[in-house]
Amino acid sequence: MSTLIKNGRVITAVDDYLGDILIEGETVSLIGKKLEVRADKVIDASNKLVIPGGIDPHTHMELPFGGTSSSDDFKTGTIAAAHGGTTTIIDFAVQYKGESLIQAIDHWHQKAEGKPAIDYGFHLIMTDLPDERLEEMKRLIQEDGVVSFKLFMAYPGVFLVDDGTIFRAMSKAGEHGGLICMHAENGVVIDVLVKQALAEGKRAPKYHALTRPTKAEAEGTGRAIAIAEMAGVPVYIVHLSCHDALQKVRQARDLGLPAYAETCPQYLFLDYTYYEQPGFEGAKYVMTPPLRDRSNQDDLWKGLRMDDLQVISTDHCPFCFKEQKELGKDDFSKIPNGGPGVEHRMSLIYDGGVAAGRIDLNRFVELTSTAAAKIFGLFPKKGTIAVGSDADIVIFDPNREETISAKSHHMNVDYSAYEGWKVKGVAETVFSRGKIVVERGQYIGRAGDGRFLKRHPM
Ligand code: URP
Ligand code: ZN
Ligand code: ZN
Repeated sequence: MSTLIKNGRVITAVDDYLGDILIEGETVSLIGKKLEVRADKVIDASNKLVIPGGIDPHTHMELPFGGTSSSDDFKTGTIAAAHGGTTTIIDFAVQYKGESLIQAIDHWHQKAEGKPAIDYGFHLIMTDLPDERLEEMKRLIQEDGVVSFKLFMAYPGVFLVDDGTIFRAMSKAGEHGGLICMHAENGVVIDVLVKQALAEGKRAPKYHALTRPTKAEAEGTGRAIAIAEMAGVPVYIVHLSCHDALQKVRQARDLGLPAYAETCPQYLFLDYTYYEQPGFEGAKYVMTPPLRDRSNQDDLWKGLRMDDLQVISTDHCPFCFKEQKELGKDDFSKIPNGGPGVEHRMSLIYDGGVAAGRIDLNRFVELTSTAAAKIFGLFPKKGTIAVGSDADIVIFDPNREETISAKSHHMNVDYSAYEGWKVKGVAETVFSRGKIVVERGQYIGRAGDGRFLKRHPM
């Protein structure tokens, strides 16, 4: 099967030109101006942007967490992602205590089996690392294509690992070309603050935010970078939410250290006031780190422009308001942490970033696709439009407007964090390895066609 996309404005992280793209089978085979070639299907992309499929390197499909499981599975979550122009996710598998690293990855392969609508990879959350398990990292990195790992400085008793474990894991990852992603928050101090708040009868959703100060995130970020420096390895800070933490990344990068970080749309567009809505409404926004004071947002955008932040992911971890968020009706610490986002990242960042004049088109592509492909071992197969690259391509209409709503979204969750928001810029046609999976807003792909991506070490 071949497809010719004609007359589009092709944007990559570095290019911007009017041209035609020929897709043959799963890859891009020819790029040029006014191509006179035969193709099974011809699509006119006049007045549209033609961009690499989005890569969201931070999702949690069907994650058991907070006494329940995130409500999207690998089918619903990846179909929703495709609707929004994301053609690759990297999801977080979890090693539970007592499990080997290989068992944990096998478990996540079983979970995903037959479901993903787009290509996918796994990072591994590690919680239990005696020396013999640490050795398994080598096989995961070199043979199994799992080249990145997440460690937590938060959630004592669940995910938290101590600094010695972090140092050992970072050293081992570095030895074999792996990368540690860090949930950087001082979870021990936060735990004390949570217990104090509850003892004082402070139970509403807003106390989730008030017990997780920006200084706790900054301390974790600084410590993660310092431990990485001692181990002589790079580190990637996930879901960075505030100026205080960004300063730590900035200082490290100014010194030439290989510190990388992502932020997410919720930290760029939403803020603490969402917790102060009447009743239990604020529970919809209980996520970690929490939404911050709006004054942080300009600095996050500056960080994105100046490359102190390299990636925009979603941390998609949806829980329904009914029955799931309600688990914490009388106690904010029991509200499952996380929110939906995988579907609207590209539109939100185009609208609030490019259309609002905060970033240019090349940076938009870099932040939503190319940088993640490079950092996580997928480039140039993914993250760009080039001869030989996978034909993961989005024909994006920069002028179409859409209203975000739980009534029309495709994520399996009963609310939207952006209910009623109008966004300009929408994915119109989405190719996953040469096959159209979304055509003029309709999903026409097949769940299960998504392929596991063995990523290459750094
Ligand atoms: O609230 C969040 N972020 N839930 C998902 C788990 C994590 O820490 O990424
Ligand atoms: Zn996290
Ligand atoms: Zn997460």
